[in-house]
Amino acid sequence: MIEFKNVSKVYPNGTRGLTNIDLTIEEGEFVVIVGLSGAGKSTFLRSVNRLHEITEGEINVNNKSITKAKGKALYEIRRDIGMIFQNFNLVKRSSVMRNVLSGRVGYHSTLRMIFGLFPKHDKELALDALERVGLKDKAYVRADQLSGGQQQRVSIARALAQEAKVILADEPVASLDPLTTKQVMDDLAKINEELKITMIVNLHSVDLAKKYATRIIGLKEGKVVFDGSVSEATDKAFEQIYGKVDEENVRKRAAK
Ligand SMILES: Nc1ncnc2c1ncn2[C@@H]1O[C@H](COP(=O)(O)OP(=O)(O)OP(=O)(O)O)[C@@H](O)[C@H]1O
Ligand SMILES: [Mg+2]
Repeated sequence: MIEFKNVSKVYPNGTRGLTNIDLTIEEGEFVVIVGLSGAGKSTFLRSVNRLHEITEGEINVNNKSITKAKGKALYEIRRDIGMIFQNFNLVKRSSVMRNVLSGRVGYHSTLRMIFGLFPKHDKELALDALERVGLKDKAYVRADQLSGGQQQRVSIARALAQEAKVILADEPVASLDPLTTKQVMDDLAKINEELKITMIVNLHSVDLAKKYATRIIGLKEGKVVFDGSVSEATDKAFEQIYGKVDEENVRKRAAK
């Protein structure tokens, strides 16, 4: 469970990233965040695991304040939160297996990790995770030899090996073609359903949001302007999020 309590974020240069966000995301939800570029989607996501510090309010993850947590406590909360990026964030020259195993780093001492000594249990977890995303046969291939979609599924496997309870995905399919996009989104949906891992996914596509979300949150200028189920997300709701389409202008541009 993730709870935003009156959260605001102002960047050091004065730009407002988020303003008075108050909401709770329950375990097992598949939340899609939509909004125009600059609406605050990435800021929202990165606030959850404190990649960004908020400037007001508090965020609780499973009833623990990540905002106030320090040292070991912060580390332990973060261990439950996996993150997936648009550009995959893999170590390209390492094997797929190494990349997935890196999801286990948070469970071991630094010294052990310097020597790369992962216990057998970790290797089993990593292989299970790869099997779940259909890439077990690629375990010992170098990450940069995989296609973009496969690399993104490796990053999903890394979050699974981490045994994350929540996965944050910042535009996970923005650099993928439509077929690969479907495979990656289907994997996220399957993991959400089968393992009850909470998903918070930033997307640019309204169609994908409607297809995969159980709940859509619309941000505009750092504020929540829509929060509801897919059936409540009508064209009118999207107008609120994206602003009214200037049809006159669209027609003029098309005519050029
Ligand atoms: N490091 C930063 N310093 C200052 N302002 C920032 C910083 N990062 C983001 N912003 C500003 O905060 C606001 C929200 O940005 P954010 O990146 O969260 O938007 P977004 O919805 O993820 O956009 P996009 O769809 O383009 O990824 C924007 O006005 C942006 O310019
Ligand atoms: Mg963004």
